[in-house]
Amino acid sequence: MNRTIVDFNHVSKKFFNKKSEMVVISDMSFHVDEGEIVALVGPSGAGKTTILNLISELLVPEIGEVKVDASLGYMFQKDNLFDWLTIYKNIALGLSIKRKLTKDDQKEIEEMAKRYGLYDFLDYYPTQLSGGMRQKVALMRTLLLKPSLLLLDEPFSSLDYITRLDLEEEIFKIIKNLKISAIIVTHDISEAIVLSNRIYVLSARPCTVKKEYILNEDMANARPNDARMNEHFQEYFKDIVETLR
Ligand SMILES: Nc1ncnc2c1ncn2[C@@H]1O[C@H](COP(=O)(O)OP(=O)(O)O)[C@@H](O)[C@H]1O
Ligand SMILES: [Mg+2]
Repeated sequence: MNRTIVDFNHVSKKFFNKKSEMVVISDMSFHVDEGEIVALVGPSGAGKTTILNLISELLVPEIGEVKVDASLGYMFQKDNLFDWLTIYKNIALGLSIKRKLTKDDQKEIEEMAKRYGLYDFLDYYPTQLSGGMRQKVALMRTLLLKPSLLLLDEPFSSLDYITRLDLEEEIFKIIKNLKISAIIVTHDISEAIVLSNRIYVLSARPCTVKKEYILNEDMANARPNDARMNEHFQEYFKDIVETLR
């Protein structure tokens, strides 16, 4: 049995404004074990981002408990790059807020950039890069902080389809190579199936777990492009659509 690194235990979360309150998360429980890629699939506005914000302690639940035993890397839907900083500086930003960059850091950034096809662009500015490349820069910035758990909030949703397929492939490889864990939040059913080994299908707001899918080992281990061709892909897809309806 692998260690549990995220334990969401009967969690409820409300948002208050002057006149009313709105329950966003209702009695929700789920967990993530070390080495897993877990997908949270649910409709827009369900409360998915709120779940990640609870995990990263940006928010605190009214009821229940959120236990996290991992160092977090958060990657957002928007890449949040600074247009007035070079790609190099954007990558280094997270780290340079924490401490002074060393020669080793510089070397690591350059090596990482080579690996991810960004080396020739380190002196460029974000506006000169495509959406997919920008997301890769955001990913590098996050990975440089050496997280053991990556939180991915619909990171591909603003990209065109082919770029999206390529980045899914790449991010899967990276997570597996680094032997880290990940939670990917998405409203894209196929993305959830091909990237994860386990899926929680969520209800519309107030958000709770409708159903858990444990993907068979073939599917869980296959790279996204292979998983998409797997004979079981359609079955999972159909079943999850039914659950969401
Ligand atoms: N800080 C906040 N204050 C008030 N309402 C919020 C806040 N953050 C999110 N909401 C509301 O909570 C609901 C769920 O939001 P969110 O978690 O962003 O959903 P999702 O990521 O699934 O699209 C939405 O109706 C949203 O408007
Ligand atoms: Mg969201």
